Amino acid sequence: MTAADGRRGPAALAMDAERFRALGHDLVDQIAEFLDSLPDRPLTPAESPEVVRSALDATAGLPEHASDPAELLGSAAEILFDHSLFNGHPRFFGYITSSPAPIGMLGDLLAAAVNANGGLWTLSPMATEIEAQTVRWIAELIGYPVDGGGLLVSGGNMANTVGLWAARAAMADWDVREAGVAAPGARPLRVYASGETHTWIHKATDLAGLGTDAIRWIPTDDGLRMNVAALREALERDRAAGERPMMVVGTAGSVSTGVVDPLFDIADVCREFGVWFHVDGAYGGLAAAAPEAAPDLGALHLADSLAVDPHKWLYAPLEAGCTLVRDRETLRRAFSYHPPYYHFGQEATNYVDFGPQNSRGFRALKVWLALRQVGREGYARCIGDDIELSRRMHARVEEHPELEPFTQALSISTFRYVPPDLRPDVGSEAAEAYLNELNQALLDRIQASGEAFVSNAVVEGRYLLRACIVNFNTKADDVDALPEIVARLGRAVDRELRPATPPGS
Ligand SMILES: Cc1ncc(COP(=O)(O)O)c(C=O)c1O
Repeated sequence: MTAADGRRGPAALAMDAERFRALGHDLVDQIAEFLDSLPDRPLTPAESPEVVRSALDATAGLPEHASDPAELLGSAAEILFDHSLFNGHPRFFGYITSSPAPIGMLGDLLAAAVNANGGLWTLSPMATEIEAQTVRWIAELIGYPVDGGGLLVSGGNMANTVGLWAARAAMADWDVREAGVAAPGARPLRVYASGETHTWIHKATDLAGLGTDAIRWIPTDDGLRMNVAALREALERDRAAGERPMMVVGTAGSVSTGVVDPLFDIADVCREFGVWFHVDGAYGGLAAAAPEAAPDLGALHLADSLAVDPHKWLYAPLEAGCTLVRDRETLRRAFSYHPPYYHFGQEATNYVDFGPQNSRGFRALKVWLALRQVGREGYARCIGDDIELSRRMHARVEEHPELEPFTQALSISTFRYVPPDLRPDVGSEAAEAYLNELNQALLDRIQASGEAFVSNAVVEGRYLLRACIVNFNTKADDVDALPEIVARLGRAVDRELRPATPPGS
């Protein structure tokens, strides 16, 4: 029997205020305790997929009936706290995933409560304006023009891809959106990037229909920075061959070593050749806020488009990437369509016109809250401290007799474990092959230890350990502890491997 309100009882998912409040308070209490205990927890339980699946009861079928939400939230928190890797742990130095700002966690809760759909202004009046202000503040923080445009996206891959799509629409001298890249008479579009560029470029050129063969890989100099003379030659060659140089990618903080390309010089070449200048600053672009950062970050304002990642160096909880463009109309020209079922005016910002998404979540809130909480000064200090701690780590590595330092830039340092008796052989083919094998196995051992977490880089054929600090929970003690953790585990791995593969064998 249906009640007068047309429902067969209370809506299954609805919750009254009292219930919501009680559940929310309990959950926030659990989260607060978790955050407090983080430094004392293992960084990761390093369990096998089987163990994790069994903790979840992964093969269980779809629940048929209701469950008690208090029990559900309690047990969800428990399995997550017990079976996760924590990138907010003070000794997490892997990849480029930051510690999440607590105000961002609360911001995500608030954003979900309002559930603004940031595609259309009408559906998200305040959320859209907050996003516009956030984009402008990010630009201001790093010295990018504040009268340009931009929007928040899921992360660095998407922020760079949006830049590439904008370049494609702007640089093709035919209607590439309608006729495609293979239109009759269309000149092949070319993209220029160094081999240190993050792999977003493969996906982006593929998704834009250019194909990965459109990428001209520009060699780097000894410091792993793009060789600008080689860039110029490649542009001249393609132009002479009747191809269309579309976009040059400069990297502001490479994923492997944190190196910043010679952005001022690249900008000059782009201007001379009339090519779109895109900067991948997903990792390092935001470091322009800190005086400690690389001088070439002063050239960000010269880019036609720029990708930065609030979920990296603004410490926003995942996900938050951001594309900035000098001319906001370049985004509209790359993305806008007006089907008859959407009716909206031009006077307000409708982000559906400026990016690939239709319905859009309210990613900006967590970023906006954190920017307001600590301001430019707070970010300059947090980012600057990460850079200083990375330099300190590199100095500790240099002092350690069993570690060999390689690079240090922004907040990434690379090094490897070298058993003392192998020191004299470093550089020989046999020793290098063994050191690669040893450090690869050592990486697995460190990652499984739960004591600390590093990732790897391969520089000139050498397999290196890579420590990246984008983590406001890391302190000097954590940094000082890493070299001996690496050496202790390195000795153990070496003892296991050496009888099987003696160097020179
Ligand atoms: C330089 C650079 N570009 C792009 C990306 C991709 O960013 P995301 O993982 O947020 O998509 C990364 C990730 O580390 C990066 O370091």
